[in-house]
Amino acid sequence: MKFDGIYEKTILIVKPDGVQRGLVGEIIKRLERKGLKLAGLKMMYLSEEKLREHYAHHVEKPFYPGLESFMKSSPVVVICAEGKGAIGAVRLIAGVTNAGQADGGTIRGDLAMGMCNVVHCSDSLENAKYEVNRFFEEGEIFEYNKTEYLHVYMDDERN
Ligand code: PPS
Repeated sequence: MKFDGIYEKTILIVKPDGVQRGLVGEIIKRLERKGLKLAGLKMMYLSEEKLREHYAHHVEKPFYPGLESFMKSSPVVVICAEGKGAIGAVRLIAGVTNAGQADGGTIRGDLAMGMCNVVHCSDSLENAKYEVNRFFEEGEIFEYNKTEYLHVYMDDERN
């Protein structure tokens, strides 16, 4: 998978609550309106094995069994979004983990109340790279020119 250049790739997962509540379109709309590029998009069930890898730092925590069963309760939608500073930008759009405390205007602040917090997003460049490879095969990430970038970034930001 290509990770060079000035544009970062980041992963967003629309969690089971987001899929069940019909929020997939709303979330994609927010990413697109922000100016992020969709590089990959798929629906999938997350296996116990995949979840244990994805939440490796949390498997020993008391909330993990509940988190795992929640994440297996429905298909999820996994999105790879790309842009300058995309990882930080998507974290801002998502809002803080506990949705009840998330700012208005964020996905979690506007659309959720607690730990059914609608989305997961990559929290660092290192983890974003792992997550792109965890959820997408080589041919599922699309490298293409987004003409809209001409109106998203100034000339000096694109070079
Ligand atoms: S921690 O303990 O502070 O490191 O955890 P945190 O970064 O806040 O959360 C890590 C992920 O676990 C989810 N989480 C929970 N799910 C269900 N129930 C409870 N109590 C709970 N606490 C944390 C949280 O939503 C994070 O999931 P992701 O998918 O990374 O957003």
